[in-house]
Amino acid sequence: MSHLVFVETSGSGVKAIEYAKRTGHTVTYLYSPRYDFTASPEQRRLARELADRTAELPDVHDPEDLLATLRAAGTRPGDVDAVLSTLAFCVPHAASLADLIGARGTPLEGVATARDKGRSRRALEESGVASLAFSVVGSLDEALAAADRIGYPVIVKPVLGVGKGATTIAHGPAEVRDHFEGLIGNLDRLPAGMSAHFDERFIVEELAIGDLYSVEVASDGRSFVPLVSTIQKTGLHNAVLELGCTVPGTLDDTTERELGDYAAQVCRTLGLTLGVFHVEMIRTAEGFRLTEANPRMAGGALPETVNAVADQDMFAILVDLFLGGDMPLAPLRLSGSASHSLLAAAETSIVRDDLAPGWFDPFFERLHSGWARLDPGGRVDAMRGNFDRFGMIRAVDTDPARAAETCAAVKADIERFLGIPLVQEAGHRSPLPAVPTPSA
Ligand SMILES: Nc1ncnc2c1ncn2[C@@H]1O[C@H](COP(=O)(O)OP(=O)(O)O)[C@@H](O)[C@H]1O
Ligand SMILES: [Mg+2]
Repeated sequence: MSHLVFVETSGSGVKAIEYAKRTGHTVTYLYSPRYDFTASPEQRRLARELADRTAELPDVHDPEDLLATLRAAGTRPGDVDAVLSTLAFCVPHAASLADLIGARGTPLEGVATARDKGRSRRALEESGVASLAFSVVGSLDEALAAADRIGYPVIVKPVLGVGKGATTIAHGPAEVRDHFEGLIGNLDRLPAGMSAHFDERFIVEELAIGDLYSVEVASDGRSFVPLVSTIQKTGLHNAVLELGCTVPGTLDDTTERELGDYAAQVCRTLGLTLGVFHVEMIRTAEGFRLTEANPRMAGGALPETVNAVADQDMFAILVDLFLGGDMPLAPLRLSGSASHSLLAAAETSIVRDDLAPGWFDPFFERLHSGWARLDPGGRVDAMRGNFDRFGMIRAVDTDPARAAETCAAVKADIERFLGIPLVQEAGHRSPLPAVPTPSA
């Protein structure tokens, strides 16, 4: 049996800890309350209960701090087989610790390249992998010059970190100016666990037009295989917001292969050579173009949406790969379709006073799974990024269009019931093909 160290976890990633324990491994879990905002209190508690050993991470300044925390948990570095993280913010820590103690982990260099959006694009360019025009900038003047060179519309994103709150789509110089002027306030409003990941740099990129897809790519250090792809739901009024996904994405076989090959090639080029990686691409008229390669598996609801219909478990694949197991049979075989939508407020709102404890239960009848956390009379903040959601709904069906439609219908009913305007989803450019409903 092996010993795994998790440096923090995403909410759904607790399932990876659960799997590791179920299969008889020893788990050390290093956590920090600064990431409490990323999951429910129950999930945070469960991760600590499941782990054999735990210790609280201090503010990490260098890899030695991680080693000290590992020792504080009572774990000897020599006993550790692998170190990983399912939480974006802590993937660099996991890679550093693995490197320092000589355990299996995603290579530091690959993680550093992938999480730096400028370095990623440079690496793709140098290897001749299709990418988008870009420039890394440190000031408004540099951003304006870059946008002029690239041509509007552009998108301005933080080079590091998960930064939807500090990301702007600009159709002209005025919006680039607004981006930099609004910045101070925007960063102030982010939790410390998130804002600590910003530096002064932004990337100005050509705005890709088309549907957004994601692929989970698995690598055992030698080969790269696309496991499963999804089509993503994005915001109607703010395309930067990610609002859910549907699996399968229903591309034809040739295009699906093209998508998987491209995502795998991106991971190979960036040096993401051990783990499962969440790669996001837009299908433009010229072909797929990377928007972001994450040096970790998808967070949020996506892995469980895949698991709802797949023949293999995403969390089991992840843990087994880190422990040197065989590559999974790919692509995953799906027995149906699944779709999930996040519930998030379009504007900061107050929850109705008369909200009964079981208000969400009737909606379950049409759903596979889901959750909602609202307090009567409480406040829900307007969505600015991935973590500003108050619930999630998931539907499973024989075809993707119907699964997606059920999500949309339930979401509309929840919106009506709560009287809170929810963030609207944009339609896909290539609609999901609907299977005709059998006549009664
Ligand atoms: N170059 C681009 N063209 C069009 N849309 C983009 C581009 N880059 C990012 N986006 C949109 O913005 C969202 C957030 O950008 P992303 O690079 O994934 O950052 P984050 O780290 O915040 O997830 C993406 O999911 C996509 O919808
Ligand atoms: Mg992203």
